Amino acid sequence: MKIKVTTGDITRIKAGAIIVNFFEGTKAPEGDTATADQALDGAISQLVRQKEIKGKLNEITLIHSLGKLPADRVIVTGLGKKTELTLDKIRGAMAETCRYLRPKGVESIATIAQWTGITGITAGSSAQAITEGALLGLYSFRKHITKKDEGEIKQLTIADTDTARFHTLKQGCQTGRIVAEATILARDMVNEPSNYMTPTNIAEIASTLAHTYGLKLTILERAQMQTLGMGALLGVARGSDQPPKFIVLSYKGRRAQATDMTLIGKGITFDSGGISLKPSGGMDEMKGDMAGGAAVMAALSAITQLKLKTNVTTIIAATENMPNGTALKPGDILTSMSGKTIEIISTDAEGRLTLADALEYARKQGTKYIVDVATLTGAVRVALGDICTGVFSNNKELENKILAAGTEAGELLWPMPMYEEYKELNKSEVADIQNTGGRWGGAITAAQFLAEFAGDTPWVHLDIAGTFTSSKAHDHIVKGATGIPVRTLINLVRSLVK
Ligand code: BES
Ligand code: MN
Ligand code: ZN
Repeated sequence: MKIKVTTGDITRIKAGAIIVNFFEGTKAPEGDTATADQALDGAISQLVRQKEIKGKLNEITLIHSLGKLPADRVIVTGLGKKTELTLDKIRGAMAETCRYLRPKGVESIATIAQWTGITGITAGSSAQAITEGALLGLYSFRKHITKKDEGEIKQLTIADTDTARFHTLKQGCQTGRIVAEATILARDMVNEPSNYMTPTNIAEIASTLAHTYGLKLTILERAQMQTLGMGALLGVARGSDQPPKFIVLSYKGRRAQATDMTLIGKGITFDSGGISLKPSGGMDEMKGDMAGGAAVMAALSAITQLKLKTNVTTIIAATENMPNGTALKPGDILTSMSGKTIEIISTDAEGRLTLADALEYARKQGTKYIVDVATLTGAVRVALGDICTGVFSNNKELENKILAAGTEAGELLWPMPMYEEYKELNKSEVADIQNTGGRWGGAITAAQFLAEFAGDTPWVHLDIAGTFTSSKAHDHIVKGATGIPVRTLINLVRSLVK
């Protein structure tokens, strides 16, 4: 989609549809909505009087202009109460409006971005929210569908009468595009089935990013993992015919050598459960068990393009979890890179094994902060549904920073308890630790397992098993992969630079 900013009156724009807004509780159209109303001989104010237009959030009203305006249609989108307007609502309303217009054959749209004077909403941030809403809301994964897509909105224009705002609006659009395209990269990787998204394919995407943006890339093969003693990761990889890849992609945005942030993403390209085989119903969903890895790589691509002045490394320990003849078995004991031994209770608790070695590698390399992102437990989905990502941490300061970054992104996060008492549940009688903590509090015992390997490095773990996909489209989210928490990670890194 082409996105541009123009100075001038939106009602002068020739497009398939122009989008104006109406706030709940207001009596008559104001600003650009009033201008459109006049051009339409009072059609909008009449619909307001007749209560068809109430201004409720995401209420969409279509008026055909029948030659009264250069645009074919005027859309009045409700934004709720003016005093309660947020960037999330702007992003969501834009997405809903775009999805409403696409099947009508509309190819070009125009909108305004004038909601200044409301806290937190500037010209730049509203242009960014509009761009994100349009690009993310219209996303679809049709790569493997041979029939051509019907309907595409090819052009979006943001019109503003104030020339002084032109530059900021343009910048907002540019940031929005970078952030949305990163989110889309993550969505594409997650939606891609495991016969296309193998560890080797992830390594190839990392290599493309490295070439495009001049990033440093290290890919460790099985033999190097052996040399480094990554017994936990290798234990998982043993059951698959696909070679594992330990992918380290680094961006240097400031002169010093030190790594400021290491983002680790779970990279299981298919989780069959291994010998502790999963039930077949819904197993296809496990093609997305690399959503954490996709998210950290995608976030890094945006961080790079935004030229943030910080050094960020991403690590993805990519492998399948499969049950072949050499596969890991319940009862086996593995020695992780940290030296800690792990008793395998379930081969389906594989994510924490791969992350244990990634955490140790990150610590050995040296890093100020670690954030890991993983589709780690069904238990977090039971606890928080598909609404919130679970947040687990050993450091309150970093935890609060990421909570704020999530709020800013409109990606809901919820802090989970990390009391010492939960650690007990991971105790093994034959090894240093075991890889499951029993039936109850499974998301927390999984996080406590990771905490053992994070050590004293300030660390946050995001369990996205509930939020990495959505069963329905709403706001900027579509059905399938959500791209969560790419935008939270970008905001977090940005907030740490400030
Ligand atoms: N990848 C799964 C977790 C998951 C479940 C992700 C649903 C997305 C949606 C993970 O590897 C897993 O199998 N976890 C087990 C852990 C258990 C064996 C302790 C689980 O949650 O059942
Ligand atoms: Mn599993
Ligand atoms: Zn898994």
